[in-house]
Parts: sequence; C-alpha cells; structure tokens
Amino acid sequence: MADGGKPRRQTQAARADRHVLYERSVQSVEPECDFIRSTFKSLRGREPRVLREDFCGTSAISCHWVGRSRANRAIGVDLDPEVLAWAREHRLAKLSAGERGRLHLIEGNVLSVAGDGAGGRVDAVGAFNFSYWVFKTRALMRRYFSGVRRSLARDGVFFLDAFGGYDAYRVMRETTAHRGFTYVWDQAHYSPVTGDLRCHIHFRFADGSKLQQAFTYEWRLWSLPEIRELLAEAGFRRSTVYWEGTAPNGRGNGEFSAEAVGEADAGWVAYIVAEA
Ligand SMILES: C[S@@+](CC[C@H](N)C(=O)[O-])C[C@H]1O[C@@H](n2cnc3c(N)ncnc32)[C@H](O)[C@@H]1O
Repeated sequence: MADGGKPRRQTQAARADRHVLYERSVQSVEPECDFIRSTFKSLRGREPRVLREDFCGTSAISCHWVGRSRANRAIGVDLDPEVLAWAREHRLAKLSAGERGRLHLIEGNVLSVAGDGAGGRVDAVGAFNFSYWVFKTRALMRRYFSGVRRSLARDGVFFLDAFGGYDAYRVMRETTAHRGFTYVWDQAHYSPVTGDLRCHIHFRFADGSKLQQAFTYEWRLWSLPEIRELLAEAGFRRSTVYWEGTAPNGRGNGEFSAEAVGEADAGWVAYIVAEA
C-alpha cells in the first residue's frame, strides 16, 4: 500500500521481462533456422543436424532447432548464468522431454568450447546479432574463428551476421514501435581511432516508464572484408556474403542471396557463410 491509500500499480517497465522484449525486438528465429538449413543443404547436399548456437542468450534458436526434427540436436553456449537460467525456466521448460534431451546448454566462453562440448563435432555453428564483435582484436577474433573451424565436421558451415553502412559510424538512436512497447537501438559511442562501439538497448512503454540500458554491448565495429580475411586466416576455405534484397518500401525484405559487391546503403545487415 502506498501511503495507506490504493495499492500503486506497477509500471509497465517494472512488469516487463527484458529477455522477452529482446527476443521480440531483435530475433528472427524461424527465418534464421530456415536460412541455416537451406544454405547448408544447397552447399553440402545434406541436411544439417547438429547446430551449435554461440552467444546463445535465451537459446531461442537452439529451442526452435530441436523442435524442427527429431534428428536435430542443438548446443547453446553462453557465459552468463543469469540468461541461461532464464532460458531453462522460460524456454527449455516449454519443450517436450525428447526435445530437451537433444538440447545441451553450456555455461562457458565460446573461446574454450570444443565441438559439441562432448567430444563430437557439429554440422553448423551460428553466431548471431553481432555477438562475436565482443572480440576486439584480430588475434582474439582469429582465435575464436579457428576454434569454430576445429569444432565443425569436415563439411561444416559457420553462419555469422554483420551490420554496417554509413549510419553504423554515427552516434544515433533508432526507435521501432512494437505492440505494447518501443524498442530503442542506441549507438551511444563510436571511436574512429579504436573502432570501439558501445550500444544500448532501451525499452519504452505507453505509461511513460522505461527500461533504460536493458542491454549494453561493448563491441568493435568490424567490416565485412576484415571478417572474411580473418575467416580465411583461421582456415575456412571459402566465405560468402549473403546480402538482403529490398522490399518495395525500400527496407530489407528478409531474403538473402550471395553477393560479391553489395550496396553503399545507410544501414545494412548481412550474413556471412564460411565453409570449413
Ligand atoms: C547480443 S546477445 C546475443 C543473443 C542471441 N544469440 C541473439 O542472436 O540475439 C550476446 C550474448 O553473448 C554472451 N557472451 C558474450 N561474450 C561471450 C563469450 N565470450 N562466450 C560466450 N558467451 C558470450 C552474452 O552473455 C550474451 O548473452
């Protein structure tokens, strides 16, 4: 009770779950799994079955992957015990016992996990939403990529994403309205000398409440040629950039195709597909 009067209703921000809002704002789980499957199949002529989701967070991709086929297995790797506990409580708990049995979460650093974490190799590794940009030096990034390559089956494939365009270098905020909340992408700091980029995600609600800095990322802003050079140095035979097509309204249409040149857009998101 507040001041002996009516109980004060919690704000929308106080009732919100930042992980749910994150998944709704930035993840495209089903299209991403479709992309992994169809690209792998067209490159390798077989179905990918074992997927390792690096920087898995809430493990949304892993959970979806094991639900797609009884032949699929997934391994999710994340450093943060809090997000893995959330994943177990909110995501794994909703899976069937069979699906849960084919999903293994590893609390650890992606730099130290080998293969599926149990002595086997994996068909595919995914590192999405730019999480691998946490590695800020060429040496560390090469170490991560080499570890991924050694984790893959002989015909394994590594899937990454990247963003860029001239807006990526700007200190700026972009807001996107969702049902029940507004997502704010805040590029708060960029250093042209070091390449360091600090980004926050904030959420705002109709009642005026906010979740400020619900997530913060300290990254280096890498370019596609730098990433591809490091993939080659780490032993990947070939890497291909998949560029997003354009919808009639000028925005991305969610369809990605292999592209050798790209376009000098203000803001783009692309996939990089690296073959072991
Ligand atoms: C941007 S979130 C990505 C969540 C999800 N993969 C996605 O696509 O939206 C980054 C995650 O990477 C984790 N992380 C950061 N550094 C890591 C590392 N070296 N090894 C494993 N996980 C790491 C963080 O704990 C966080 O959950």
